[in-house]
Amino acid sequence: MATLQLPSKSKMLDKSFTYGVATASFQIEGGKDHRLDCIWDTFCATEGKIADGSDGHEACDHYHRWLDDINLIESLGVDAYRLSISWPRVMTKNGQLNQDGVDFYLNILNELAKRNIKAYVTLYHWDLPQHLEDNGGWLNRQTAYEFAHYVDLITKAFDGKVYSYATLNEPFCSSYLGYEIGIHAPGLTGQDLGRKSAHHLLLAHGLAMQVLKRNTPQTQNGIVLNFTPGYPATDSEADKQAADYADQYFNQWYIKPILNKSYPDIIEQLPASSRPDIEQGDMEIIGGSIDFLGINFYTRAIYQADAENIYRELPAPAPRTDMGWEIYPKAFTELLVSLNERYDLPPVFITENGAAMPDTIENGVVNDDDRLGYYQQHLNAVHNAIEQGVDIQGYFAWSLMDNFEWAEGYRKRFGIVYVDYQTQQRTIKKSGHAYKQLISNR
Ligand code: FCB
Repeated sequence: MATLQLPSKSKMLDKSFTYGVATASFQIEGGKDHRLDCIWDTFCATEGKIADGSDGHEACDHYHRWLDDINLIESLGVDAYRLSISWPRVMTKNGQLNQDGVDFYLNILNELAKRNIKAYVTLYHWDLPQHLEDNGGWLNRQTAYEFAHYVDLITKAFDGKVYSYATLNEPFCSSYLGYEIGIHAPGLTGQDLGRKSAHHLLLAHGLAMQVLKRNTPQTQNGIVLNFTPGYPATDSEADKQAADYADQYFNQWYIKPILNKSYPDIIEQLPASSRPDIEQGDMEIIGGSIDFLGINFYTRAIYQADAENIYRELPAPAPRTDMGWEIYPKAFTELLVSLNERYDLPPVFITENGAAMPDTIENGVVNDDDRLGYYQQHLNAVHNAIEQGVDIQGYFAWSLMDNFEWAEGYRKRFGIVYVDYQTQQRTIKKSGHAYKQLISNR
């Protein structure tokens, strides 16, 4: 197979359906000398945290190669590019804009505009300035206000150049992985820390939405959430309850406050010390309206009842990607349909979907049929959800190019473009060529 196909009447073949590629600042930019330190710099410098001992100092050197990379994006024929802004690049320690950093992004936004590529800007993709972490980071309520302040200044600086803003990328990862189990920066642990940081992230989202509505009402403003749907290991009532608990804890915890202004019921089951400090008015702020919901999907999880911990996640069955994540596209359709049943959803964009695969490059060619298969199955899954009535308006491949895959370092490759980290040469993979074809065939 060398192509990606959709049924001829698919809404995903309308020109109005947006196709894009996605990246994030820390994962591709490098250019560390031109910004403040962030929590991922500190985390990378801590022995044993990153699988290959690497860091983000150079990454894909996008900081210097950004123009070539935009030409590459243009060559793929996509409608949109989802990028994130490095907060420590555009702000100084005393809360003013850093004009050099702002100019870096203005150049990118201007070049995208010239090429008619819509800019989907994520305002926070995990690179919190270290000096804010030193004051408690997302455990400190004040960080939510610092975020709103940064959003206020940066959106004024970008006026008229952005198509869509997302406040946060995957607050689940920031709070749970970063503050609850500590496998992401800043590497702290504790249920209380995880739940408290999640609340402050959601508050930051709500405060930033107010700023976006004021400063840039003409853009599509929303948030990006990730979902790993939970399935019971067996049909037993106990396993079903375990899976439901995990779903509330990992998935609904983030979407429900935003769309329904409340946390899932299981909040009542948490020890009082683990419950977030919810101040009066917080849920109203968090639950302000959004123009779109970004959904990131990669895999599902299977749960069994567990006497001690309520649920236990079972090892992922095959087939699996190079991350060890099960390939189970049916869960994608079921997720989208179930969210649509549960909530009054705004228009949905698939803001990330893709797979890490053990790529090899031979004579300048990457035959990633495994990744191509993943894309085909997951595009079908999105199509099926649209057929079942979910209003999905766009799809972004994660990722434009191989990059720094957080705690996994550079060993896991998610790109539809291959990056040789010795030479920084980019090579479009077979999946990238197929994606381009799909888009141009519309
Ligand atoms: C998501 C992140 C993204 C990337 C993919 C594989 O959780 O948003 O930065 O690492 O996973």
